[in-house]
Amino acid sequence: MTTVSGLPTPTAYEHLFTEAHTVSAFDGPPVTDAQLQQAYDLMKWGPTAMNITPLRVLVLRSAQARARLALHMSEGNRNKTVAAPLTLVAATDTRFHAHLPVLAPHRAELAVTLEGAPERRESMAHKSGLIQVGYLIVALRAAGLHVGPMGGFDAAGVDTEFFSGSGWRSLLVLNVGNAAAPDGVRPRAARLRFEDTYTEL
Ligand SMILES: Cc1cc2nc3c(=O)[nH]c(=O)nc-3n(C[C@H](O)[C@H](O)[C@H](O)COP(=O)(O)O)c2cc1C
Repeated sequence: MTTVSGLPTPTAYEHLFTEAHTVSAFDGPPVTDAQLQQAYDLMKWGPTAMNITPLRVLVLRSAQARARLALHMSEGNRNKTVAAPLTLVAATDTRFHAHLPVLAPHRAELAVTLEGAPERRESMAHKSGLIQVGYLIVALRAAGLHVGPMGGFDAAGVDTEFFSGSGWRSLLVLNVGNAAAPDGVRPRAARLRFEDTYTEL
């Protein structure tokens, strides 16, 4: 649904952006597989370079699984990760080129070149993987969930723990659930003004 200005309805954009918060403490019902699927079915449409869609997601639901991750979280992020109902490790697949015949049939032949160009693959996977993490955060909100993204973790440790031999590289850890209001939310900090962010030549 859109307004006459072409923007989504206030309810939608408030829910996704202006009223949405980063959350660190959770409560309420568990996160369902249906909610994860719903978020994926929105996130997957966001654009990536050549449609390579390199984001891969490790779902850690059990206490044992999250305890393995907690070893690699920075101290400030450890307890909230252990306490979260569900944690996602957002990673990027540096071997994304195996899927080019399906995802970019017009560039399928590039898979051969990319096989011999690991640095180019790392760079492409990093850039498009990170932009997909942004889509994922907003898509999880659209699926009715709250998210606590965290960059404070030992990425090399996480990669050895979970992704050995796969070509996946961890990008961001996301705690996911329903906010334990009001404890789970820090007061909103300011944002820069449009004039401080945009410049026009
Ligand atoms: C890439 C990224 C890394 C972050 N790393 C951490 C982190 O390591 N620990 C933490 O507590 N919050 C982390 N955050 C949460 C941010 O501090 C939070 O999203 C930001 O302050 C905006 O808060 P708001 O959504 O409540 O306005 C991270 C967020 C992003 C997007």
